[in-house]
Amino acid sequence: MIAVINQKGGVGKTTTAINLAHALALLGQRVLALDLDPQGHLGIGLGVSEKDTAGMDEVLLNGSDVNQFVVSTRNDTGSGQLDVVPAGPGLANVEHLVDGGTQRGMRLKNALQNIVTDYDTVIFDCPPSAGLLGINALFAASDLVIPVSSDFLALQSLSSFMTTLQFVEKTCGRSMGKHIVMTRYHQQRRLAREVRESLQQHFPGQLTKTSIRENVALAESPSYGESIFEYQQVSHGADDYRQLATELTTERWH
Ligand SMILES: Nc1ncnc2c1ncn2[C@@H]1O[C@H](COP(=O)(O)OP(=O)(O)OP(=O)(O)O)[C@@H](O)[C@H]1O
Ligand SMILES: [Mg+2]
Repeated sequence: MIAVINQKGGVGKTTTAINLAHALALLGQRVLALDLDPQGHLGIGLGVSEKDTAGMDEVLLNGSDVNQFVVSTRNDTGSGQLDVVPAGPGLANVEHLVDGGTQRGMRLKNALQNIVTDYDTVIFDCPPSAGLLGINALFAASDLVIPVSSDFLALQSLSSFMTTLQFVEKTCGRSMGKHIVMTRYHQQRRLAREVRESLQQHFPGQLTKTSIRENVALAESPSYGESIFEYQQVSHGADDYRQLATELTTERWH
């Protein structure tokens, strides 16, 4: 189970969740993508979300069976499959849950127990905050994909996020695979290369070889409800997410 997560906003979490999920399906995996962000952009970007369609809100607030909300989107991907559970209009209310103590953080993990065997990968798109939705994602995930934009402030906020992760790992008594992915990367810019070097230095072994280059097609595709592989097969964006999926599955995830 993979959380695409970073407390910083606008770093490419949703873009990564959408296109990594589809890339994995195109590699033949059975993939379930969950939208844990009340903004609902994952569902919209994959073309499934009606504004009032229930989904993760019902699962996390009322304990409803997640199977009820699974939308099959792409079964024509060779042997692979891409299913989606949208956020639902009430998802923001999860942040206001007061009952349940630490159990509030375990709702997602518990909800997914029945369905994990139906999929090779379950991937969650997380909101840009350190609230209860993010905590649920961290408790349920075995691996984290952490998109980082290629600017200097990104480093600063990543350090504080990594400190939060250490705390969570201590609390849970287990460690998670951490895979930092640079997004909106400009090879020609010195700053981007310097940020890459700093990341390598500060987080050895955690930075993926694949960086996602700046690519306008990646920004355009969600408004058509299409992944990059549908919107523009031949593009840097498609190449990079294909390569990231291969790197993660063959070299990094266990
Ligand atoms: N590689 C890229 N090339 C060009 N544009 C990109 C790229 N990655 C992301 N974007 C654009 O940057 C913006 C932010 O990306 P995205 O929504 O994926 O970030 P996010 O981390 O999910 O944001 P939020 O924190 O609000 O959920 C979007 O407009 C998206 O289209
Ligand atoms: Mg997002």
